Amino acid sequence: MKELLEKRLLWVGGKGGVGKTTVAAALAVLAARRGRRVLVVSTDPAHSLGDVFDRELGDESRRLLPNLDAMEIDPDAEVEAHLARVTAQMRRYAAPEMMTELERQMRLTRQSPGTQEAALLERLSRLITDDAGEWDLIIFDTAPTGHTLRLLTLPEAMAAWTDGLLAHNRKSEELGKVLSHLTPKRGQDVATPFDDPHEDGLADLDDKTRDVARTLRDRRRLFHQARRRIENAEETGFMFVLTPERLPILETARAVATLEEAHVPVAGTLVNRVIPPEADGDFLNARREQEATYLERIDEVLGHLPRPRLPWLPTDVQGIEILEQLAERLEAEGF
Ligand SMILES: Nc1ncnc2c1ncn2[C@@H]1O[C@H](COP(=O)(O)OP(=O)(O)OP(=O)(O)O)[C@@H](O)[C@H]1O
Ligand SMILES: [Mg+2]
Repeated sequence: MKELLEKRLLWVGGKGGVGKTTVAAALAVLAARRGRRVLVVSTDPAHSLGDVFDRELGDESRRLLPNLDAMEIDPDAEVEAHLARVTAQMRRYAAPEMMTELERQMRLTRQSPGTQEAALLERLSRLITDDAGEWDLIIFDTAPTGHTLRLLTLPEAMAAWTDGLLAHNRKSEELGKVLSHLTPKRGQDVATPFDDPHEDGLADLDDKTRDVARTLRDRRRLFHQARRRIENAEETGFMFVLTPERLPILETARAVATLEEAHVPVAGTLVNRVIPPEADGDFLNARREQEATYLERIDEVLGHLPRPRLPWLPTDVQGIEILEQLAERLEAEGF
């Protein structure tokens, strides 16, 4: 798995509570120590990345160690910023008598399913596609499996959501035609429709409509570029953390299959919290026997992927010192 830390984007996923944040942080420490400029990003509103590093983190990146920055994105704040941008644009576009209706729509949108994902996806897509950025490697500490999979595999749905904002508008029919023209069909190279220097159908629209159409087009372009990078195995690796227990194994096997179907490259797994050999006592020996059957099961269902292990530590993981120890263990496991 050595090449994993040489990629540009690394996603750490897995079931709730298995150790994603811990592993993402330890990998970040390891890569930074090797001289890569690393950003580790969490999208978890519970702010656990800051807890693991024992530092206050926020929306802007913060330097924690040489070469190592960290950031916690708050999905609710992203939604507000996203809606504020959309509203400002619509205000220019909509007739004054429509503003009450528009604001009602915005309130509904704030609560509708998918809004957080859309806002978050936009922010993540900016990070993913930012080649001028300060980092060689961005590690994403993601939310539990299902949520992340939706986020990674459904940019098309997100584009539909942005268009939905315009559905009530008088110009929507006209705009809808332009947008459907701009939307690439699945499997088609997105470069063709988007990179037309004559701005394709936009020339026929009035100024305000063109302004909105351009924004929506740019957002679609951003989502598709992000998606293309996520699909590129040279650039991107996805790693699943799991524990040797029944449900994490089932969920990981399912998630790996889903990602592989969606052409998102899965680089490997990490089996966390394995009972260490030095742990003794009847109770732990009984657990260890059970654990052995689960470790076998992992070899069966995830045998085509690397499966390095981390021991169950006597304490929780908090603070840079213990993360550095974990980083060393990860290195010994082949990272
Ligand atoms: N190998 C380990 N040994 C001991 N404790 C561990 C180990 N790995 C993780 N932990 C502890 O387990 C708890 C959960 O870990 P963590 O927060 O990294 O999981 P997570 O998958 O990010 O959870 P969530 O799904 O809630 O985001 C934390 O208290 C962490 O310190
Ligand atoms: Mg976490």
